[in-house]
Amino acid sequence: MAKSATSITSVILAAGKGTRMKSSLPKVLHPVAGRPMVGHVVARALELGTAPIALVVAEGMEAVVEVARDLAGEVDVAIQKEQHGTAHAVLAAKPVLGEVEGVLLVLYGDTPLLTEETLTRVVEAVVDDKKCAVAVLGFTPDDAGAYGRLVLAEDGTLEKIVEAKDADEDELLIDFCNSGVMAIRGELVWKLLSQVKNDNAKKEYYLTDIIALARKAGFTARAVEGDADEVLGVNSRGELAVAEAIFQYRARQRMMDQGVTLIDPDSVFFAADTMIASDVLIEPNVFFGPGVRVESGAHIKTFSHIEGAVIGANSSVGPFARVRPGTKLGNDVKIGNFVELKAADVKAGAKISHLSYIGDASVGEDANIGAGTITCNYDGFLKYKTTIGRGVFVGSNSALVAPVTLGDGAMIGAGSVITKDVAADALALARGMQTEKPGAAAEFRTQKAAEKKAKKRN
Ligand code: UD1
Ligand code: MG
Repeated sequence: MAKSATSITSVILAAGKGTRMKSSLPKVLHPVAGRPMVGHVVARALELGTAPIALVVAEGMEAVVEVARDLAGEVDVAIQKEQHGTAHAVLAAKPVLGEVEGVLLVLYGDTPLLTEETLTRVVEAVVDDKKCAVAVLGFTPDDAGAYGRLVLAEDGTLEKIVEAKDADEDELLIDFCNSGVMAIRGELVWKLLSQVKNDNAKKEYYLTDIIALARKAGFTARAVEGDADEVLGVNSRGELAVAEAIFQYRARQRMMDQGVTLIDPDSVFFAADTMIASDVLIEPNVFFGPGVRVESGAHIKTFSHIEGAVIGANSSVGPFARVRPGTKLGNDVKIGNFVELKAADVKAGAKISHLSYIGDASVGEDANIGAGTITCNYDGFLKYKTTIGRGVFVGSNSALVAPVTLGDGAMIGAGSVITKDVAADALALARGMQTEKPGAAAEFRTQKAAEKKAKKRN
């Protein structure tokens, strides 16, 4: 983690309604790679070592605050009751932030693809030049559209930012645009912001006005160039899908760089926090939800869905396996096709090879769970635990009715419905006993054949 010596305070603007998402969910809570967009921004702020982090939200956005607090612990929250523009939004954080030391970094909650490296460059532009009051992250989009235009001075510094709605013809031709990311020298923040007026096309208080105001006060401003992909702001479901695609592309590259084999990278989907060790082999069409760690040498086979789980070293999972939250596989575990696991603690060397549901259970070392075994963990009201000891052999098509414990080394006959605990090394059978009538099948066939013949004659 690159931590600047200068103290950095982040303010994340997220009070906008995001009407174009056409959603009852606040825009910044829509997920990219399984993590709400605002969570990505908070994660970047944390990587930079910023403290405190302030979040500007509208009323009723408690869920947004919760996401930020889950990731960052402490977050200062400012409620912006009415949204009168980006400068107005930053000012809303003044009471919670007070005097700002070092640098204030302004981020938007809907830009999930920013990188720590780029943000560091923006901060450093202010830190490294005592005359520089503000640094802005600029980019060159395919279509400059509604973005604010960065007007550069002859010496290459930033002269001002003109919003598209207020720009003249010449200014509209500028293709270098404002991403919204801005680093402001802490001691100047409130002084500059207090001078912003709303005499513009949108009747809003534009944060972008502080560039010209800083120059008027004898300071300079700079634009730092970034990648258009990185500053993508999400306003619609279409842009959300674009952000997801860019995120996944990067994640796949990163995984491969770290020594993970992806046979068909484009068909594997990672969550923002997926951790995969080197020498893991991932077959096509695998989906990772949040909270997964896969240890070295594991093999994830095609069409598996894994979330909230640890997959131990050299284990194999799938094809067609579903591993649900709370599951932990030890080393050398085998999970085969059409197996569903939920909150299962499966110890080293255990095998659950085919067609099983193992939930709220622990499975001992080297246990073998036969095809079609089901832990009946739910009675319609409450959930119960199944404990399977070390080296247990469960015959195919058995139902283990929880709560139930199978002692170490126990065997369960195929087709059993086990409702009582089984002692260590015992063999339990809980099914109809087999009886046999010698020759009865042949007799039956002879009799029926005769009946059929007689019927045909009539
Ligand atoms: C802003 C910039 C523009 C830049 C563009 C990049 C200004 C004046 N303009 O324009 O130069 O090219 O972003 O996407 O800054 N927000 C609040 N409260 C408010 C207003 C906004 O929290 O009162 C938040 C929004 O939730 C959003 C961010 O600030 O996260 C940007 O607001 P938005 O209205 O999208 O600004 P743009 O008009 O796109
Ligand atoms: Mg916008």
